[in-house]
Amino acid sequence: MEKNRAQWGSKIGFILAAAGSAVGLGNIWKFPGRAYEGGGGCFLLIYLGMVVLLGAPLMLSELSVGRASQTNIVGTFRKLGHPCFSWVGWMGVTGAFIITCYYSHVGGWVLRYVVGYAAEAPKIYGDSLGYFYEMLGLHADGAASFPWLTLLFAGIFMAVNAVVIIRGVESGIEKFNKVGMPALFILLLVLLTRAVTLEGAKPGIEYMVSLDWSKVTFDTFLAALGQAFYSLSIGMAIMITYGSYLPRTENIARNTGLICAMDTLVAVLAGFIVVPAVFATLGAEQIGKGGGFAFVSLAKVFQQMPGGTFFGVLFYLLLLFAALTSCMSLVEGIVAFLTEHFAWPRKATTIAVCAAMFAIGCLYTCSQAAYPIKGVWFDAANGVSFPAFCDAMEFLTDRIMIPVCALGSCLFVGWVWKPEKAVAEIEQNGVRFALAKVYTVIIKYVAPVAILTILVMSFATGMTLS
Ligand code: PHE
Repeated sequence: MEKNRAQWGSKIGFILAAAGSAVGLGNIWKFPGRAYEGGGGCFLLIYLGMVVLLGAPLMLSELSVGRASQTNIVGTFRKLGHPCFSWVGWMGVTGAFIITCYYSHVGGWVLRYVVGYAAEAPKIYGDSLGYFYEMLGLHADGAASFPWLTLLFAGIFMAVNAVVIIRGVESGIEKFNKVGMPALFILLLVLLTRAVTLEGAKPGIEYMVSLDWSKVTFDTFLAALGQAFYSLSIGMAIMITYGSYLPRTENIARNTGLICAMDTLVAVLAGFIVVPAVFATLGAEQIGKGGGFAFVSLAKVFQQMPGGTFFGVLFYLLLLFAALTSCMSLVEGIVAFLTEHFAWPRKATTIAVCAAMFAIGCLYTCSQAAYPIKGVWFDAANGVSFPAFCDAMEFLTDRIMIPVCALGSCLFVGWVWKPEKAVAEIEQNGVRFALAKVYTVIIKYVAPVAILTILVMSFATGMTLS
């Protein structure tokens, strides 16, 4: 199996692909709202601390575990340590599967908005909330219908992913990212220039650099930590799988730094696009979090901004590239596992798995507004509850599977495989890893305690903490 394993064709190809996985809806869609909520500059500092202190060491661990094992996520734990730990791999793949179900559908909405801004922007401006609900199958008169057009867009988004994955690691994922990531950076800079030069943008910029610690609570730290893990694609099958395609000559410590830096830079720039633009056009109180925000509130921003429709198309194109490169990393993690573990053929596996994830994702889109499809949830604050299926899906992955899988990887590297082996793997290219001691302390003690805290707190506080 190992002899025929795929490898990245070039160093920059790997870095762009891993950064492509990390930079996604989390950076451009979720981060700005969270940064606003967390007090602007304060949140930026806390977030930065989380990335440096916990995110980077965890990414480094995942990449080195993957490269050392040269196999998929489940095989990794079996090969390097103890078969007991293969549950971490199973949880990672299952989490990646569930995330892809909904990620691909949000990707479909984004595609729908690219077309929407290009073809019928006045309709979006006329009633942005109505347009959003209509997209989800809920009409102004309260009637529901099957959102087949939106599902078609999600199907197209998924099909693009499948085509890239079938083409393979080097000629599919790497090639796509080599074009997609530079395009994303260019779009980001154009939008940044537009946003910060808007009249009235200054208070927004000032807010983003202000240090008002009165808005910071314990939740801010939890939100920053959860956001950092999600944003860096940690705690899923991804970085282990991408690391397994790396040659031994690569400097993984430096690459980790670069990937984390790029991911954080995109998130911060997105913050400096969205927050000042909303301040300039709508006023601060309109900044919200999550789903509707990227689709509903931003419509008014583009409506009021000079050249807004054009910049609207660009913004959704930016989101589209970001979502595509992240989604394909998720699909790769799953396909790499299935093809290696069960010796299934790559093409048929990709098609089957993508079709299944698309089908489950239809429940995600339909349960947003049009149909009362419910999931089940349990936490200490509310006991058993029956939230919308879509919320339950996101909670399951963000609140449980990602942290549990990250905790499992930490414990595995810290206590089973041992940090000395990780350091030896990191130093394979002949360069000494200067931060080895700090890394060891973080991976053995600091990270597990921090992750356990997130898990316990989110169980205790229930579904409200976002
Ligand atoms: N990091 C991606 C984002 O920021 C999401 C993601 C999570 C991708 C986990 C892969 C694995 O949107």
